[in-house]
Amino acid sequence: MKALVTGGAGFIGSHLCDLLLASGHEVICLDNFSTGSDENIRHLSNNARFSLLRHDVTVPLQAEADEIFNLACPASPVHYQRIPIETTKACVYGAINMLDLACASGARILQASTSEVYGDPQVHPQTEAYWGHVNPIGTRSCYDEGKRCAEALFFDYRRRSQLPIKVVRIFNTYGPRMHPSDGRVVSNFIVQALRNDPITIYGDGSHTRSFCYVDDLVDGMARMMA
Ligand SMILES: NC(=O)c1ccc[n+]([C@@H]2O[C@H](COP(=O)([O-])OP(=O)(O)OC[C@H]3O[C@@H](n4cnc5c(N)ncnc54)[C@H](O)[C@@H]3O)[C@@H](O)[C@H]2O)c1
Repeated sequence: MKALVTGGAGFIGSHLCDLLLASGHEVICLDNFSTGSDENIRHLSNNARFSLLRHDVTVPLQAEADEIFNLACPASPVHYQRIPIETTKACVYGAINMLDLACASGARILQASTSEVYGDPQVHPQTEAYWGHVNPIGTRSCYDEGKRCAEALFFDYRRRSQLPIKVVRIFNTYGPRMHPSDGRVVSNFIVQALRNDPITIYGDGSHTRSFCYVDDLVDGMARMMA
């Protein structure tokens, strides 16, 4: 089985490459290294079933794959607020290019979506029946609306072409190789604790969040594709 992992040099993508290789797949890791890193995949460079493609997902691609895992997108607010237009393009053009590739190669395709599609939700916890409460013009909109548009594209391709699609809405994920300065609560707490700095709690401390360990997430993604 040949898998294409876009965003494969990122935090989650690199763990997914590890898992797929361990289960016998050939893996093509596609990345433009905007937020990913060579270090995340260096340990795979001698694996004969692993190959790296430096490519931007916003540019159409011809490749052979049985499975496409589409993760390429800046994921943390500090990253995507620095490059908001590139972020929307990665979500929208990236989804179109990978969906076209799936149609051309007969691949199954999975989209890494996000809890952010719910925006600033008024329902807790969010179920899939809830459509969200999203600001289309705010500083997070490039990501929230980009991911919502990507989901819409996935379901339109399925309706039009009966493409076997999978969409996973990922919540806050933590584990080895996460970005230490991504501004998220787990990295903030750990880095502040290691520096012996005061721990920052936003608001009155009554917020709730759903957390997932990265091994559990990539296991779920692989099962979803199966
Ligand atoms: N980490 C989380 O808690 C979380 C939560 C919800 C959703 N997600 C989604 O999971 C995916 C992976 O997130 P992550 O935390 O590993 O982030 P990350 O920033 O570590 O990884 C994203 C990868 O995509 C690459 N990339 C970005 N734009 C690209 C482009 N145009 N072309 C090619 N490659 C590109 C980056 O270089 C990086 O390697 C993202 O789609 C993100 O939206 C993550």
